[in-house]
Amino acid sequence: MVWLQKLFTTKTETDNNTLSEHSGERDWVTVDPKMFGNCKIFFSTNQSIDVYELEELCDSVGWARRPLRKVRKALQHSYLVASIWEFRGARSYLIGFARATSDHAFNATIWDVVIHPRFQSKGLGKAFMRYMINKLRSNDISNVTLFADPQVVDFYRCLGFIPDPEGIKGMFWYPE
Ligand SMILES: CC(C)(COP(=O)(O)OP(=O)(O)OC[C@H]1O[C@@H](n2cnc3c(N)ncnc32)[C@H](O)[C@@H]1OP(=O)(O)O)[C@@H](O)C(=O)NCCC(=O)NCCS
Repeated sequence: MVWLQKLFTTKTETDNNTLSEHSGERDWVTVDPKMFGNCKIFFSTNQSIDVYELEELCDSVGWARRPLRKVRKALQHSYLVASIWEFRGARSYLIGFARATSDHAFNATIWDVVIHPRFQSKGLGKAFMRYMINKLRSNDISNVTLFADPQVVDFYRCLGFIPDPEGIKGMFWYPE
C-alpha cells in the first residue's frame, strides 16, 4: 500500500472532466461509442447506494467481503459518496464507486475506488477520479490523499498524485 497526496495551491487549480451535462442528480458522461457501444453512463454524488449491489461490484474485482453493517456505516459517515451508473432500460446499474472521508476544511482521503471489469481501461476511472477531485475542490478542500495498492500507483500518478511527497511516509497501525 502506498500513500499518495495531491495538494492544490490555488482554488482555481482544478482538473477538467469529461462531463457534458449537469443535472444535479445525474452527471451524464460523454462516451466514445466505439468503446462503449450505445451505453448511457452517468456519475452521481447523491444516488442512494444499495450495499448488496456495492459488494457485488467489489466482488467483481476480487476484493474480500466486508460486513454489510460496517459498509453501511462507512457510507453514512463518508463526506462524499460518488458512483457510476449504466442506464439501461428503465434501470440504473452500479458500475463504479469511490468515497471520501474528510475534516470538511483542509483534508480529504479517497477510499474504495472501483470500476467494474467490463468498463475498465476505457478512461472511465480517470474521468471519475477527476470528478471526485473537482467535487472536493469545489468545497475548498486543498489536500486530497489516498492509499494505493502497488499495482495502481501509476493510475493515480497520472492524475497528479505524488507518492510520499517531501519524504512524508504514510504509517499504519494494525491490531496484533
Ligand atoms: C484502478 C481502476 C480504478 C482504474 O480504472 P480504469 O477505468 O480501468 O482506468 P482508466 O481506463 O481511466 O485508465 C486511466 C489511465 O490509468 C492507467 N491505468 C489504468 N489502470 C491501471 C493500473 N492498474 N495500473 C497502472 N495504470 C493503470 C491507464 O493505462 C490509463 O493511462 P492513459 O491515460 O495514459 O491511457 C480500475 O482498474 C479498478 O477498479 N481496478 C480494480 C480495483 C482497484 O484496484 N482499485 C484501486 C484500489 S487502490
